[in-house]
Amino acid sequence: MIDSKNLEKITKENAKDKLFNLAKTISYHDDLYYNKNRNEISDSEYDKLRELNKKLEHLFPDLIQINSPSKRVGSKLDSNLQKIKHNAPMLSLNNGYNQNDLKEFYNKTKKALNYHNSSPVFIAETKVDGLSASIRYKDGKIDLALTRGDGRVGEDITKNIKYVDGVVFKLPRGFPKYFEIRGEIYMPNDVFANLNKERKKIGLTSFSTPRNAASGSMRQLDPLITASRKLGFYCYSVINPDKSLGITLSDIKNNVKEKGFIVNEPYEVFNNIESMINFYNDIQNKRSKLNYDIDGIVYKLDRLDEQVILGDATRWPRWAIALKFPAEAAITEVLDIIVQVGRTGVLTPVAILKEVNIGGVRVNRATLHNEDEIDRIEVRKGDRVTLQRAGDVIPKILSVDLKSRKENSEKYIFPIKCPSCGTDTKRLKGEANRRCLNINHCQEQLISKFSHFVSRDAFDINGLGEKQLKFLLRKSFITEFFDIFLLEKKIKEKNFYLLNIMGWGEKSINNLLNAINSRRNIELYRLIYSLGIRHVGRETANLLSENYKTIQELIDVAKRADSKLSKSWVGLNSINGIGDSAINSLYDYFSDVKNITSLERLLIELDIKNKIQIKSKGIFSNKNLLFTGKISSMTRKEAIEKAESKGAKILKVINKNLDILIVGKDAGSKLEKAKRLKVRILTEKEFIDIVNND
Ligand code: IVH
Repeated sequence: MIDSKNLEKITKENAKDKLFNLAKTISYHDDLYYNKNRNEISDSEYDKLRELNKKLEHLFPDLIQINSPSKRVGSKLDSNLQKIKHNAPMLSLNNGYNQNDLKEFYNKTKKALNYHNSSPVFIAETKVDGLSASIRYKDGKIDLALTRGDGRVGEDITKNIKYVDGVVFKLPRGFPKYFEIRGEIYMPNDVFANLNKERKKIGLTSFSTPRNAASGSMRQLDPLITASRKLGFYCYSVINPDKSLGITLSDIKNNVKEKGFIVNEPYEVFNNIESMINFYNDIQNKRSKLNYDIDGIVYKLDRLDEQVILGDATRWPRWAIALKFPAEAAITEVLDIIVQVGRTGVLTPVAILKEVNIGGVRVNRATLHNEDEIDRIEVRKGDRVTLQRAGDVIPKILSVDLKSRKENSEKYIFPIKCPSCGTDTKRLKGEANRRCLNINHCQEQLISKFSHFVSRDAFDINGLGEKQLKFLLRKSFITEFFDIFLLEKKIKEKNFYLLNIMGWGEKSINNLLNAINSRRNIELYRLIYSLGIRHVGRETANLLSENYKTIQELIDVAKRADSKLSKSWVGLNSINGIGDSAINSLYDYFSDVKNITSLERLLIELDIKNKIQIKSKGIFSNKNLLFTGKISSMTRKEAIEKAESKGAKILKVINKNLDILIVGKDAGSKLEKAKRLKVRILTEKEFIDIVNND
């Protein structure tokens, strides 16, 4: 494999192919990171791809394409939020990975500015790992807030930004009529841990990193979701600042801090490289004690006039560099090696670890991918291993300390029978994975299949976690997907048989049934994705839904296809982006009568939409509200009508079903009680803003 280190021998032809593939891979990961709030590779692996791209383009400048990753910041935008152009582009930062990169930046900057016997001044500050936002104020009030987006055009997050801690709503006197400030929105680590814990309890998928959680919380349409996520905002720059605010970044930071903005700290100014390096080392040592993720130190020229002299390259300013921290690692012990069975029957070995804390996150398991990987790293039960929470994604075992291996340790033998159902497993030709072929009866496979079916990007049904699915499968309440939609009937027939069994009360059952019923109306791409067909991920499901108007069309093609060579599949062949493995597995899936029968039965329960956006029923839909105190800007009746028109249900008394308390003047005991119950509280003004903005 070609990596950044052995490029000398590469031919131009190879470099061209490599650059083409890199552009595709980087785009794919950009889309995951910026639009889907997910990572499949670590930040450092991603940085390596970009480094390689940079080096190849340096070697063969005439191969640089207009759409090269080196010319792009962020990703194509695909959320439902409105897109608006930035006043000034929101650039990225050039990365450095070691002291030499920093020294090189320092010397280059010094030279470009003609410093000989003295040094330019740099401000150094933490690089907060969140999502950047730009907030525009007009006449002292927030006028617009945008995400970075692709750097040129951002997404409108004005409604949501108001629920982020550290965002100033109303500027104090002395600010110009138009004012724009930029910074990073982040989710504190404890909030992240709690959020995932709560999501897990109710059967929702976890966010993989605080950054992804922060991004997911901002880049959606419901401000109440943002509000419930307790995000923070650190300011790091002002756009076209008025001279009265300062002529250096450090003055500006001091000034906005004094005026109520929260800036990322610590920050310090330096005029020599040694102390710049010391600052980096010092913060790196303190990193794990912070309650939010930082992934490096940013060094910027402090004087604004000097920044102007150096100007910007395509993707980043020449006056700044981000010196990244190395990926975080820890050493721990392998307590056991278990094998999990996934939805397509794939057996995945997982190392159960003695829990370690890596950068503030507790890690107690790591995937071992497949039997070849176990052989490759030669891991055994009882081994001491170096673990990497690589760029904050799924932890992986980097290496095994063979020297400390216990004498009685035994080589791990990968099971040839399925650990869940005992059936023989098979490793298909050319595949790294061994799989259980008992697709209809293997318990673990079924649980994984159903978990996928109800997952966020599929049917998105809250309340059906692994525990609940296991129970329902064991009791044969569900055996096929359509059974989920018959649950209500079955429960009624059995006279609330489920009550108390799982610690489920009537309310949680009703919530679950409501969640299920609300998903009878489903988009075609979700339905296709939910079936869990091998090689048919979100992207393929989307493509299929764009090319077939109905699921029936897809089924009809399947029914007509009597051999893999049948040209009935020609439609699929011609869809750009659908490869042979997806075509083969679609063929296999749809030519299995059992699958078709089950799908047809499921269709009876559903109303499928293709590409039709379901309009939101108002910002307070499904929320219980209560007013307390004196509402001054309208009558209580009007306020209630407004809330109801936005979907709210109004409660008469405070109880644990209350979602939001709206507080007017002189509120009494209800306010205190709501605080005790940790109910969300909105002032009258906030309530009116929300209603007017919806
Ligand atoms: S300055 C033009 N300062 O890092 C330079 N960025 O990887 C603008 N970030 O897009 C950025 N902490 O979202 C700056 N102290 C900091 C930062 C910071 C985090 C983010 C920002 C930027 C990204 C680049």
